[in-house]
Amino acid sequence: MAHGTSPSERQAAAPHHAPAGAEAWRPRPLKEALVASCGAIEETISTLLTPVQGEEAVLIEAMRYAALGGGKRLRGFLVLEGAGLLGAPRQSALRAAASVEFLHAYSLVHDDLPAMDDDDLRRGQPSTHKKFGEAMAILAGDALQTEAFSVILDPAMDLPADVRAALALALAQASGAAGMVGGQVIDIEGEGKALSLPQVTRLHALKTGALIRYAAEAGAILAGLPENDPKRAALRAYGADMGTAFQIADDVLDSTASTEVLGKTAGKDENADKSNYVALLGIEGAASAARDYSDRAKKALAVFGPEADTLRTLADYFVERRN
Ligand code: IPE
Ligand code: IPE
Ligand code: MG
Ligand code: MG
Ligand code: MG
Repeated sequence: MAHGTSPSERQAAAPHHAPAGAEAWRPRPLKEALVASCGAIEETISTLLTPVQGEEAVLIEAMRYAALGGGKRLRGFLVLEGAGLLGAPRQSALRAAASVEFLHAYSLVHDDLPAMDDDDLRRGQPSTHKKFGEAMAILAGDALQTEAFSVILDPAMDLPADVRAALALALAQASGAAGMVGGQVIDIEGEGKALSLPQVTRLHALKTGALIRYAAEAGAILAGLPENDPKRAALRAYGADMGTAFQIADDVLDSTASTEVLGKTAGKDENADKSNYVALLGIEGAASAARDYSDRAKKALAVFGPEADTLRTLADYFVERRN
C-alpha cells in the first residue's frame, strides 16, 4: 500500500499510471473513502428523487424509502472509484453512482416480495412492501428502474450523447435477462434443486456479478475509453470476480451472521432451500472460494499502480465484511 507516499513520489514510481489530463487519483484509507462516497451518493439520490405533491406523492415516498434508507452504497462507490482513477467528470460520475444504486434498490424491493424471497426486513427496516403494500412496492421498483436509465441519459449528465448511450446500454445488459434478472430466474427456479457448482457460479455471476461488473467498468465508460482499452478491460475483469466474491460472502453471512447485524433476516437461504456455495461447499469451503475470487479480482488490477490501492482494499472488504 502506498498511503504514506506523496503524490510526487508515487508519480515518479509509476509515471505512466497518471490519467491523462487529470490529477493523479490518490488512494485513501477504505473506511474514509466509503464514508465520503456514501454521503455524496445519498445527497445526489435525495436531490434526484425530489418529493412531490399530489397523487404520485406516495410513489416518490416509497422510492425514497427504498433508495435512501441505509445500504452500503458499494456499487455507487465502485463507479466513483473507477471514474476517479480514469479522470472522468465528477458530476457525471455521481449521477451514474446514484443510477446504479436506483437499479440495485429496485432489485432488492422486488427480491423481497412475497412471490420472491418473501423477506420482511431490509436494511434494518420493514421491507418496502411491508411499509407501502405490495402494489406500491412493485410500482416503486418499476419506477426506480426507469429512473436509473433516465438519470444517465439526461443531457444534465454533461457528457456526449454517445457516452451516455454506451453507459445506458451497459447498464441494460447488466440488469436484464442476460444479467441480474436472468440470475434471479435461475435462483428462484433453483430452490429445492441441487444445482452444480458451475451452475451456481453462473447464477452468482448473473444475479449479482453483472451489476457489480457494470459498476466497476462504468468509470471507464464515463472517461470515454473504448471497450478494448486495457484499463477498461482490467476494471471489467476485476468487477466480475468482485461480484462473485460478493455474492458468496452474502451466502456465508446469511448462515453465520445475526439478523440484527445483517439488517435482513438471517438463515433465509437454508429455509428456502436455495442452491448456493454454502449448500455445496459448507461455510469454510464457501468462505475460501470467496477469498479466491477476491484475490483474483486484485490480480486483474495489475495494469494500475498504487492509485488503485483503494480498489484492492475493497476486494478484501468484500469478503471480510460483517454485513
Ligand atoms: C444485497 O446487496 C443483495 C446482494 C446482491 C447480495 P448489498 O449487501 O450491497 O445491499 P445494501 O445495498 O448494502 O443494502
Ligand atoms: C439477491 O440475492 C440478489 C439480487 C439481485 C437482489 P439475495 O436474495 O441473496 O439478496 P439478499 O440476501 O436478499 O440481500
Ligand atoms: Mg434472492
Ligand atoms: Mg433475498
Ligand atoms: Mg442473500
